[in-house]
Amino acid sequence: MSSLIRRLNSLRQDLWRAARGQGQKATVQHYAQAAGRRQPPPQPVALATTAMRVTAVTHETPSAISLTLVRQDGADIEFLPGMFFTLVLNIAGREHRRAYSISSAATLRTSATITIKRVPDGLVSQHLVDTVAVGASLNVLGPAGAFTLRPQAGRQRELLLIGGGSGITPLMAILRSVLAIEADSRITLFYANRRRDEIIFADELDALVRQYRPRLRLLHVLEEAPAAWSGACGRLDVEQCTRLLTQAYGEDLPADLRVFQCGPAPMMEAVRTSLLAQGLAAEHLQQENFLPGRREQALADSVAQPLTIIAADGQRWQGYAAAGQSLLDAGLALQAPMNFSCTLGGCGRCRVRVLSGSVAMPGPHGLLPEEEEAGYALACIATASSPLTIAIAPPTPL
Ligand SMILES: Cc1cc2nc3c(=O)[nH]c(=O)nc-3n(C[C@H](O)[C@H](O)[C@H](O)COP(=O)(O)OP(=O)(O)OC[C@H]3O[C@@H](n4cnc5c(N)ncnc54)[C@H](O)[C@@H]3O)c2cc1C
Ligand code: FES
Repeated sequence: MSSLIRRLNSLRQDLWRAARGQGQKATVQHYAQAAGRRQPPPQPVALATTAMRVTAVTHETPSAISLTLVRQDGADIEFLPGMFFTLVLNIAGREHRRAYSISSAATLRTSATITIKRVPDGLVSQHLVDTVAVGASLNVLGPAGAFTLRPQAGRQRELLLIGGGSGITPLMAILRSVLAIEADSRITLFYANRRRDEIIFADELDALVRQYRPRLRLLHVLEEAPAAWSGACGRLDVEQCTRLLTQAYGEDLPADLRVFQCGPAPMMEAVRTSLLAQGLAAEHLQQENFLPGRREQALADSVAQPLTIIAADGQRWQGYAAAGQSLLDAGLALQAPMNFSCTLGGCGRCRVRVLSGSVAMPGPHGLLPEEEEAGYALACIATASSPLTIAIAPPTPL
């Protein structure tokens, strides 16, 4: 795990260097300025994006495409399977940010592929699926995310990947990477879709099963199955999941089983219930949620809380975090020098340390479990659930 922390820190440092390379001042300088004159406070520093060029567009299904990206500066793209980029797009004069998981294997450093499924009435997904062509330039933040593993030659794992719809994307990166690097690891994939023509990577998955059998097993679930369908039918609910687990593993789950799941919230809840009832330890299940935390947070039942923010030089800002307001928005409203970049919980740039009080922080997010245990929170997605004092965490040291 320490190597993963080092790797993520190195990715964050790359982002930080990119920001400095574009002439923005380091946050420590802003703190120094703040010490000298209390008003107006320094402006928040947003990280620079990386320009990427689209080198291929693959139509995976009628509603999903894959975009292969290379960095405009020709540098390698470093990532762990399961991570995502945050795309920063200008559509009709307004900036929009959305996260898209990398679907390609981490063995390939020169390019990375993201896979996008059109969401009905979805602004950015429709824009990307309908308009992006080879040669287009995209600005991205990241990669980031903690829904990852580090493939290692010689490692022997028993992995269960469970995907629903576009949730296959990060799982595909994990599957492709582990199969390529870990010759002794075994993977079982449960893949749920509404209809057959919505199965992303259908042909490639069949080919991979033929190539890697018995190390790779694939169990499809279709809500609207055609006649003569040999896979499971219906929703991936608790009963269906329990049936599939029995089909895959018999009565007992393997002791070393690790599970990664990504899909619609009801599916993930059902899968979690089923797996825990079968005896899987909660810490052996990792989940990625595609619905941005901020939207879920808006639904959260919270009330206004007193908020104190302390900067690195000891300067304080005091006020309130409104009900459902992120700590980032509350801090900016108080004119505190908050750091931020993706505003989606992905890049780790807005880390704050909770000195007293408690926060609610929905997933998915880019903090490592160790960072969360150490009392860090991501200001862009966290809300105050009690009177709160936070310290603006300095960026990861270079
Ligand atoms: C960490 C992370 C990784 C992601 N990876 C991928 C990926 O690899 N591929 C991919 O296609 N998407 C991925 N997403 C989802 C993606 O970021 C966008 O949320 C999605 O494309 C919808 O954006 P939009 O602008 O089209 O929709 P919006 O205009 O923002 O929303 C339109 C409507 O659709 C609903 N909606 C938004 N997102 C979803 C969703 N995912 N499913 C169902 N309804 C939704 C909204 O609530 C709203 O009602 C990821 C999200 C996160 C947080
Ligand atoms: S701004 Fe990127 S995680 Fe908060």
